[in-house]
Amino acid sequence: MKFIKSFAFAVLVFGIISCSKPEKTSRDEPIKPVPISKIDNAQKVELGKMLFFEPRLSKSGFISCNSCHNLSTGGADNLPSSIGHGWQLGPINSPTVLNAKFNLAQFWDGRAKDLQDQAGGPIANPGEMASTHTLAIEILQSIPQYVDLFKSIYSVDKITIEEVTDAIAAFEETLTTPNSRFDQWLFGDENAITDVEKAGYALFKEKGCVACHNGVGVGGTSYQKFGVVKAYEKDTETLGRFDVTKNEQDKYFFKVPLLRNIELTAPYFHDASTVDLVEAVQVMAEYQLGQQLTQDEQNKIVAFLKTLTGDQPVITYPILPPSTAKTPPPDRN
Ligand code: HEC
Ligand code: HEC
Repeated sequence: MKFIKSFAFAVLVFGIISCSKPEKTSRDEPIKPVPISKIDNAQKVELGKMLFFEPRLSKSGFISCNSCHNLSTGGADNLPSSIGHGWQLGPINSPTVLNAKFNLAQFWDGRAKDLQDQAGGPIANPGEMASTHTLAIEILQSIPQYVDLFKSIYSVDKITIEEVTDAIAAFEETLTTPNSRFDQWLFGDENAITDVEKAGYALFKEKGCVACHNGVGVGGTSYQKFGVVKAYEKDTETLGRFDVTKNEQDKYFFKVPLLRNIELTAPYFHDASTVDLVEAVQVMAEYQLGQQLTQDEQNKIVAFLKTLTGDQPVITYPILPPSTAKTPPPDRN
């Protein structure tokens, strides 16, 4: 009995000590570690995952968010531009959904203010999933298991696009990649990255990359011109931020991409103009900073960039409920 009491006491004391333990602190650097994502509502996240993998949100019944943001390949499709409804080629390279919550806004031009605002877009985009919000809802509403899930999470009988995008966003919030070797170094493990990788990070700061690629996502904190020092002439048709603001000075400004997991998400740039990370680094040095890097400098920076690959989300494939006689049929046209 006495043993049990003192054991209980020890557990209690340990509990208090471990609860009051301060958050792990990281080095004072312009890049911050990816925090472990906390799940507040596991049921909502699970529903969001189902919807992320749900091809019936598309007109053809064939394309899901995961088609273009494949969680097996870094949350992107690794294609120059995505393939949408009826094999249409999209106008721009698909960014990764991994760590997208750390972006100041969504899309290359920032036209969606957050993940929920973004998630309604592709469903109704004629070149992507080519459905309508009305049709997508009609499909979900025809499947009793979905009706029950929405009812239990949102207390609604009639599903609306609000709940659909809220659940998808809740799932995307969990798609973070903590524990990269670079983050281990940020948390004080001196041996987590090699001397070459450390030299690469030093160059990344000295040369000025970090002015634009910083914060938790190593990007996503500002809009910047592609072609600051030298005009980028390969693609003069995609105007970037200008399309949103119509300000002349926003032409060719893009949301600075996240460099987390960058080795997994080739091809690079909004126009997918290179598949080679070394070349991408050289283009940046030349067009953004007006510098020529030596081969050795390029290699060191790339070695550093590869330390930004973190633990990929562990996904258990969701099992989706079957359609019913009431479910509107897929339409390939
Ligand atoms: C047909 C391919 C395709 C499908 C399907 C698709 N996306 Fe995308 N997604 C893209 C492309 C291409 C972009 C970039 C478009 C742009 O910036 O103009 C993008 C951008 C995004 C972004 C912004 C990321 C960033 O860094 O700005 C998020 C988040 C996202 N998609 C989530 C989703 C979700 C959620 C779904 C399902 C509801 C979905 N996507 C369906 C191709 C697709
Ligand atoms: C003035 C701001 C700025 C500076 C400085 C800068 N970048 Fe960038 N970076 C951007 C922008 C904006 C893009 C997106 C360009 C596009 O595709 O439209 C980008 C894209 C990239 C990409 C491709 C990302 C992807 O997902 O396609 C890599 C890699 C990259 N930068 C690395 C670097 C490195 C390394 C340096 C330093 C040598 C650097 N950047 C300096 C703003 C900057």
